[in-house]
Amino acid sequence: MQRKGIILAGGSGTRLWPITMGVSKQLLPIYDKPMVYYPLSVLMLAGIREIAVITTPEDQAQFQRLLGDGGQWGVRLIWLVQPSPDGLAQAYLLAKDFLNGAPSAMVLGDNIFFGHGLPEILASASARETGGTVFGYRVADPERYGVVDFDRDGTVKAIIEKPEVPPSNFAVTGLYFLDGRAPELAARVKPSPRGELEIVDLLEFYRAEGALQVEKMGRGFAWLDTGTHGSLLDAGNFVRTLTERQGQQVGCPDEIAYRLAWISRDELAARAEIFRKNDYGRYLAAVLAE
Ligand code: G1P
Repeated sequence: MQRKGIILAGGSGTRLWPITMGVSKQLLPIYDKPMVYYPLSVLMLAGIREIAVITTPEDQAQFQRLLGDGGQWGVRLIWLVQPSPDGLAQAYLLAKDFLNGAPSAMVLGDNIFFGHGLPEILASASARETGGTVFGYRVADPERYGVVDFDRDGTVKAIIEKPEVPPSNFAVTGLYFLDGRAPELAARVKPSPRGELEIVDLLEFYRAEGALQVEKMGRGFAWLDTGTHGSLLDAGNFVRTLTERQGQQVGCPDEIAYRLAWISRDELAARAEIFRKNDYGRYLAAVLAE
């Protein structure tokens, strides 16, 4: 069965208040594009064309205005709401009918990935039909994330959510490849002390049966955080630095769709025309002229 995608873009973004009192965090700019373009691009790079976007009920209309039905990129977007932020594992319950037994890749709407070889590691995770794959990334502040506890021989003993004393520096990124059983297993997750259906508890079912791969994303990758005002600005500056230095976009769904031949030259030209007055449009025109 074809793997389907989920973008989880719910949440109230309280850590970014007052900015996110009026607008969803995942719609904020990361330099020249809305934040959600970046995780969307990751799913597209993984070859995924059917994607459920989960938002709060209040924010859905704005996301729809921005992304439409995905047809402009040769993907199909379907829309789901998460009425209250009850945890990442809840996304699988909300998306159960959409997934309809298919394996999935879920990405958090505020996670930004960049790195040489990203399409390759996505492809190998996607090719694994049973079990799950998550990515461990070394960070200086693991206590803010789900953290991998490795055995001496490197096998994963546990993944612990926001531990006070982190067992390693490897955070689990917000990109989860799980097989078709995820909704069924998510239904067995009990709310944590903070009242959420934790993704780490869902992953534990896979780990316990030896079906969880934790791939390390090495130092050549950037996994950027957007959770604080400073890190949000840093992420924007990172994207700006790369974009201006290389003259290549980061997280550009139009370019990805075209290079994957999901849209035609004419379709890309029509997109370039919409944005002709700015650098985004000029960039798409340059891709066409290559
Ligand atoms: C969530 C997950 C955590 C993961 C992180 C990645 O944390 O619960 O395991 O490491 O996303 O961004 P949250 O952003 O909800 O604090």
